[in-house]
Amino acid sequence: MAEQETHEAVTIKINDNGPFLVRGPVRLLDADGNQHDLSSRKSVALCRCGASTTKPFCDGTHSKLGFQAAERAVREAEFGQ
Ligand code: FES
Repeated sequence: MAEQETHEAVTIKINDNGPFLVRGPVRLLDADGNQHDLSSRKSVALCRCGASTTKPFCDGTHSKLGFQAAERAVREAEFGQ
């Protein structure tokens, strides 16, 4: 696949107690440098809980686990929310 020059901005939204939602023209490489084919997607949700069976993508398992993102857990511990 030929790389295309683009000036679209990439946005990464941190979903509350869920995945990173990545929008825009990104290349996603595995640890060996192999590129995931994202050509049919406008956005990808990347697992941040560590429990997805389709890593690096989110498969929704975080909600079954009651995953709490670190920043939430710290905030709740500090302020007793
Ligand atoms: S963040 Fe969704 S399965 Fe991990």
